[in-house]
Amino acid sequence: MEKKKLTTAEILALARKEGALGSGSAGSPAPSEEAPEPVQPDAPQETAADAAPPSPPAGEKPKSTADILAAARAQGGGAAAPKEDAPAAAGKPAAKPAAPKSTADILAAARAQGGGAKPAGETSAKPKSTADILAAARAQGKGAAPAAKPAAAKAKPAAKGAAPAAPAGDRPSVQEMLAAVRKGGTPAAAGTAPKPKLPAKPKLPAKGKGKEIPRRSFFAAAGDLLLIPFNLAWLLMGAIGAIWSLAAARFMMPNMVVELPSRFKVGPPSDFPLGTVSEKYKAARGVWIVHTDQYNGENLIYALTAVCTHLGCTPNWLQAEQKFKCPCHGSGFYINGINFEGPAPRPLERVGITLAADGMLEVDKSVKFQEELGQWADPASFYEPV
Ligand code: FES
Repeated sequence: MEKKKLTTAEILALARKEGALGSGSAGSPAPSEEAPEPVQPDAPQETAADAAPPSPPAGEKPKSTADILAAARAQGGGAAAPKEDAPAAAGKPAAKPAAPKSTADILAAARAQGGGAKPAGETSAKPKSTADILAAARAQGKGAAPAAKPAAAKAKPAAKGAAPAAPAGDRPSVQEMLAAVRKGGTPAAAGTAPKPKLPAKPKLPAKGKGKEIPRRSFFAAAGDLLLIPFNLAWLLMGAIGAIWSLAAARFMMPNMVVELPSRFKVGPPSDFPLGTVSEKYKAARGVWIVHTDQYNGENLIYALTAVCTHLGCTPNWLQAEQKFKCPCHGSGFYINGINFEGPAPRPLERVGITLAADGMLEVDKSVKFQEELGQWADPASFYEPV
């Protein structure tokens, strides 16, 4: 007896039937084996509600693909079991039925059976892919023909109330639209003129992500500029002009030496004890304040200039030797200013000194008194303490 191959739909239907019997749900109706009338896909007036498959009874969940395939494998052996009886009765060794083992096997068998018995409700179109086969299996599980799905899918826009697309034959041609525009109308008024699309806004590059301009240092740029002879010549000419301008400005300013005033106060007479030489104003004013009684036995305070009468050097006061000593040529002067050694030809000179109204001794360097000229007798050349 020739072995009859089962299609996938038959395997799945048989699996569901067996599952329904095994589960004991006697009240649940078996899926209808009768195929509903195939719905024409091009019928736009049919709504989704009309084309939708009947909902399964309550309590029965649509099985998943894994469940369906597992049941199909389990039923593969069961469907072939009756066939094993015939060879056994004929005394032949029972041949093990060739049950599909895997999903690929089941699908291959289903494809191979595509030309044989077709499941109820399946259209003449042969399932091509795994998705189609599984979709057909699910649709059969729900009792609806696969052909009902496209019809329902096509009926959805009508159920949602969307405007049906105009048939291609209703669209005005280009010539008609141009004619409508020439007449003063718009292509939109002529019918289904496409809405012009606005050009897309160009995208600006993100900040900091564009091509960065390389920055050169100031010195590198200046060096490049100096390498050009024309620029170098202009630079040198500008520098020479600036120097001449500065020289002219300096020429317009007079040479002026800022000198201290010739009259200044040195303090009260009590600050200069008898027999002392004060060098407080030697560096700043160039004078010594001397209080001595070694000139003609008179107790006098006077101011001696710190200028050697030889060649103008500045002598030093030697306290231990009680004399002024010139470091240049060795001239020596007593405490009263009389020269006694060295090349100095004459005594040191005195400057004017008076007692101011405020009780301070005031020195006047603008007036000089020379001993060899008898000027030391002038009362303006000394102060005699009381
Ligand atoms: Fe003072 Fe010559 S300058 S000794």
